[in-house]
Amino acid sequence: MYQRLDLEVWDGDQPIPREELLKRVPGKQGILCLITEKIDSQVLDAAGSCLKVVSTFSVGTDHIDLEAVKARGIKVGYTPGVLTDAVAELTLGLTLATARRFFQSHREILSGGWEKSAWSPLWMCGKQLHGCTVGIVGLGRIGFALLLRLKAFQVKDILYTARSPKPHGEAEGGKEVKFEELLQKSDFVICTCALTPETQGMFDKRAFQLMKPSAVFINISRGGLVNQDDLVEALKGGEIWGAGLDVMTPEPLPSHHPLLQLANCTVIPHIGSATEKTRLDMARLAAENLIAGIKGTSMPAQLL
Ligand code: DGY
Repeated sequence: MYQRLDLEVWDGDQPIPREELLKRVPGKQGILCLITEKIDSQVLDAAGSCLKVVSTFSVGTDHIDLEAVKARGIKVGYTPGVLTDAVAELTLGLTLATARRFFQSHREILSGGWEKSAWSPLWMCGKQLHGCTVGIVGLGRIGFALLLRLKAFQVKDILYTARSPKPHGEAEGGKEVKFEELLQKSDFVICTCALTPETQGMFDKRAFQLMKPSAVFINISRGGLVNQDDLVEALKGGEIWGAGLDVMTPEPLPSHHPLLQLANCTVIPHIGSATEKTRLDMARLAAENLIAGIKGTSMPAQLL
């Protein structure tokens, strides 16, 4: 038996302005949001008691106040799994682009630097994965997909941290270690863990000082995991060799931001899951979660 659902869609190119969201949510049974919408008590109260489900078009849920949602008995749907491969591929790409200085090299061509340096043996030299130790911070779905791909690059060791035991990580040749040990031993530190109150700002001055001066830091998770001022200082002061960021604070990053002035920092605009197939899969899953949450049937990917 079909049940008719009425939809109200924000179809602007920019995220829905906060006032507009607050104006439109009253009386809705479901909200399908992006990571750009902060779903907090104010939005939930504005929606009122009809609200049954919040379905986010993302695997990350740090834009949703989960305690406030739980307290109101509202369900939360998200999009795990369908974006794992796209994000793992992007992570590897960003790691190579940073370590081998892709963007900097491109700029050198445009600015005439190539003509000046011809083929000078040490010009544009970077780091290679082969034979290195790679540390993955957070062995969730994406971290594990990355571990599998790294094996093909014949790295020496893959270390990881995890909130709960991850026997599949060991089975694939990885080794679980404490965060500090990972920082000290890794040539590449790749952050794939979720942003939570516990992980907020975990990459700070102390963390960068523990890393090798030759280390490459990659973040594809959330900007909030990093104290960005400390990162800028670490990159300027040579505490680490370079960084590659798909995520930062704020997003979008202003075009004059200090991170964008640093030759040893590769920045891309939060495109981890941006493949056509993955975005369609995410859209489908988010819609299915929304409909199931409203109808009270089993949601394909329910967080709460
Ligand atoms: C997610 O799904 O959380 C990504 O960061 C957005 O693509």
